[in-house]
Amino acid sequence: MSTPTHKQLRAGMVGMGMIFDETYRPFLERTHVEGLYDRKFGDIDVPLTAVATRTGSRADKYRKEAGSNIGPFASYSGTDAVAKMLAAGVDFACVATPDDRHFEGAKQILEAGVNLLIEKPSVLRLQELDELVEIAHRKSVLAKVVYHKLLDPDHKRMRTLVADGVLQHINNGYCSLLEPKLISGAQFSEWITGRNPGTYVAVHYIKLIDFSFGGRLKTITATGQRGIVGPQDGPTWDSTQMRMVYEYADGREAAFDIHTSWVTPDNFPGYVEQEVQFRFDNGVWNGHSRKRGIELTVEGKTPVEMKTTINTHYNGKSLEPWGQRSQRGYGIEVIERFARELAYVEFGGDVAGRAARFAEVQKLAYNELAADRQTVAAVQALEAILAHAANDEPDCVVRVNGVDGGLVLYRPGSSHAEVLYLPKV
Ligand SMILES: NC(=O)c1ccc[n+]([C@@H]2O[C@H](COP(=O)([O-])OP(=O)(O)OC[C@H]3O[C@@H](n4cnc5c(N)ncnc54)[C@H](O)[C@@H]3O)[C@@H](O)[C@H]2O)c1
Repeated sequence: MSTPTHKQLRAGMVGMGMIFDETYRPFLERTHVEGLYDRKFGDIDVPLTAVATRTGSRADKYRKEAGSNIGPFASYSGTDAVAKMLAAGVDFACVATPDDRHFEGAKQILEAGVNLLIEKPSVLRLQELDELVEIAHRKSVLAKVVYHKLLDPDHKRMRTLVADGVLQHINNGYCSLLEPKLISGAQFSEWITGRNPGTYVAVHYIKLIDFSFGGRLKTITATGQRGIVGPQDGPTWDSTQMRMVYEYADGREAAFDIHTSWVTPDNFPGYVEQEVQFRFDNGVWNGHSRKRGIELTVEGKTPVEMKTTINTHYNGKSLEPWGQRSQRGYGIEVIERFARELAYVEFGGDVAGRAARFAEVQKLAYNELAADRQTVAAVQALEAILAHAANDEPDCVVRVNGVDGGLVLYRPGSSHAEVLYLPKV
């Protein structure tokens, strides 16, 4: 019989940028000290075993900074880094590379029979989603996506009120998510060309809307602005505004506008401006993630080096009342939750019961890759509409599951339908 210390889930990490620092790192460091425990699966070690990055420099920097807060791990860089990370032996691997590089790494991970956790947006095209879902099915491994805003306590409360019928029938709404210039100008400068803030962050709200209200995605339109991050006639976007129309089982519709930017001034009082308003038949939900209560002023530091309105629900470093340093929040909870689901599948009972446990965890739509279809469809539509706009073809419309196919783009004034994805979405 194996002793508890022999139970382990070895972690691999692809990409060690901002989101690694904010969420994966605190999870891995806490688990390094405390392990992962639940009565259902016992005491599990989750060692960071191997990492794959573009140049290796972030891994080196992390190793130095973390010191004894993390165990020894192998670091690989270059074009075959993911293959080497997998060869080092990992039970699950997380993909946190730029959004247009998720697919490549994710595919290699699944093909190696390794469980996958992938950052939002999972992939940029339904064709890629289909391929990953097929491999995960064939290899019988988990393929999950991180949408941490579904775990925001405010969003959970709203969804509960919807599920309980207190808030009835969504009609329309808006969301905005505005990031500072340093994100587009410094943090993402290596991969920003040709990218847009909608795919990167509107996707949080696409998922929130899709997961909270259900329904069938029908139409996507989008506009945007250029000229700050890149040339005003180039493919790189400063801000985007997209609209999605959904239809519900009773035939009634709802429309949602999602505005995003990554050129908000750096001296803005919060890290990220996040706001939602949803209007129902019998109510209105107004949420503001930045104005939940804190206004911090520190001479010479706020609002640039430190921020004035902080989202401690997402991620907060604290000195606990009992003297320990901690870092917690829903951004970290969502990673831990995945590890717990995987631990339950692998160690939550005997081998004969694995298939049933696996099926149970696969049914969790909030993070299941196969359940990400409408979100990926909206992202694919947004990307196509922006690409056409950058090519002097503005104001295109994408319709879902219409007469011409699953995801089809129409240009104003043209009878030609461009099929982005033929099967039903
Ligand atoms: N959950 C969230 O709210 C949230 C927040 C921020 C970012 N993200 C997502 O995380 C992903 C990464 O974002 P970030 O903010 O950490 O970006 P970042 O630019 O800070 O870091 C990207 C990292 O990926 C590495 N990388 C780039 N190409 C690679 C490749 N081909 N192989 C291996 N490594 C490669 C880079 O070296 C870097 O370490 C994006 O998909 C983004 O959408 C999620």
